[in-house]
Amino acid sequence: MASASISKLAALPARVASRLQWEFREWHTPSRASFLQEELDHAMLDAVAWTPGERVLDVGCGTGIYSRKLIEKQLNVTGLDLSSDLLARSAATGLPLLQASGEQLPVANESFDTIFCHKTAYLFAQPNKALAEFQRVLRPGGRVLLSTSRTRSPYALAQAAAILLSRNRDWGFNNRLGPGAWMTLATAAGFDVRTVYSCNLVAPIVFRVCDRWIVPNEWMRRLNRVLRRGTGWPLAGTRPRLMAQDFVLELVRR
Ligand SMILES: C[S@@+](CC[C@H](N)C(=O)[O-])C[C@H]1O[C@@H](n2cnc3c(N)ncnc32)[C@H](O)[C@@H]1O
Repeated sequence: MASASISKLAALPARVASRLQWEFREWHTPSRASFLQEELDHAMLDAVAWTPGERVLDVGCGTGIYSRKLIEKQLNVTGLDLSSDLLARSAATGLPLLQASGEQLPVANESFDTIFCHKTAYLFAQPNKALAEFQRVLRPGGRVLLSTSRTRSPYALAQAAAILLSRNRDWGFNNRLGPGAWMTLATAAGFDVRTVYSCNLVAPIVFRVCDRWIVPNEWMRRLNRVLRRGTGWPLAGTRPRLMAQDFVLELVRR
């Protein structure tokens, strides 16, 4: 007993040093897998139900980060993106790839079970057209998983102001449609809203501006968790929650 306590005590300085080193790294170079991505990814990939063999079209697949995760779930994935450069980097997945816009899909009617559209819907010039195409290529009862963000939260406004001041085009904030607007358009396009996942509470993320955390990412992650646990605010619901910044909509084709 006593020797176990002594060895725990002896290991303490190393643990503290490692922790400090980690916190410093988080502050200095915020980790890519910030909690902003964690909740969204959890909703898109884990909170929803998947059936092995499901035919999934990854619209805006980019370099294939999510296509890879979908393959791990034994799904039948096709990647689609507008950019040939990014698609070239997706080639290593070995998946069928299509170079096209989400607003004009070069695929047959009713040929997919799920459209997976992560961090891409805000780039559609004609969201109506994309939804009509999603409706066409999905089988009846098929679904769209689409991530979107609030456009008028304190975070969105701070981000927009910072972009304006910095004039850095890389942080282009061209999101015009929030979750409510997407839900209205989707309903008119022949979808039912099955679930709304309200991700990333606004309170912690106001500390993040232009991809930099003003306070360390890990502290914000903790604050997010404490807020969720303390208040019991659930991720899944039927309406977008006011205190969330990002959303995943699960839309079912009628
Ligand atoms: C922010 S990236 C997201 C990539 C990927 N889904 C991810 O989360 O890692 C947006 C992607 O959408 C693609 N894109 C932009 N406009 C598009 C369109 N109209 N149709 C399909 N893809 C589009 C871009 O080339 C880019 O790969």
